[in-house]
Amino acid sequence: MEQPIMQLVSEDAIRYHVQELAGRIDADYPDGILYLLGVLKGSWVFLADLARAIKRPVRIDFIGVKRIRRGEELANPGQAALITSCPQSVFADSHVLVVDGIVDTGVTIKQIFTYLVTLHLRSVQVVTLLDKPSRRTVRGLNLKYVGCQIPDVFVVGYGMDYEQDYRNLPSIHILRRCAYKHCVFYTSDAESFCSVACMENDASVRETETE
Ligand code: IMP
Ligand code: MG
Repeated sequence: MEQPIMQLVSEDAIRYHVQELAGRIDADYPDGILYLLGVLKGSWVFLADLARAIKRPVRIDFIGVKRIRRGEELANPGQAALITSCPQSVFADSHVLVVDGIVDTGVTIKQIFTYLVTLHLRSVQVVTLLDKPSRRTVRGLNLKYVGCQIPDVFVVGYGMDYEQDYRNLPSIHILRRCAYKHCVFYTSDAESFCSVACMENDASVRETETE
């Protein structure tokens, strides 16, 4: 039977990006408190690796965000996402670096910025391992630290899920059951894999893109 996933970013490539990002973060941040604020749940593996690759002291906390799905808009007028669990720490006078595994439309990160602006922070920036710029709907989002940009494909592994599965895969894979019509590919293997994936029209993947 055909495998439903295909590797897009190898463990070696992930290690490279984690080290590179950690080096930049070490170089950029002055002395003082730096919080790594992990976005639940997809950032958990990346956060663990990044935190250990960073040499300066850091503190860790987490934030939960839920995308508003179709049918939930009436109960949440004007909201595209909701903060479901707030960090337990007090951030006043700290630098905060929001850590996510992947940024897609940007709605989640924007919601987190909206929340963090109410706290008294010295600075707030974002670090994401993966970015899908072609999917962005939020304008003017500044992602200071991006590991690598990927095309418009649905990925799993390295903490990221499809309906809570695949999070423990050590590398990042394209999930075949996806509905993407415009793909740019990295390898010829990925190209033939995705050309099949793109013809499938499983809108349910988009419906599950939270946490
Ligand atoms: P955004 O709000 O559209 O930027 O979506 C960000 C969140 O959606 C991420 O934190 C992930 O939880 C989830 N997400 C977006 N794209 C993917 C993907 O390709 N695989 C797994 N989760 C994804
Ligand atoms: Mg998810």
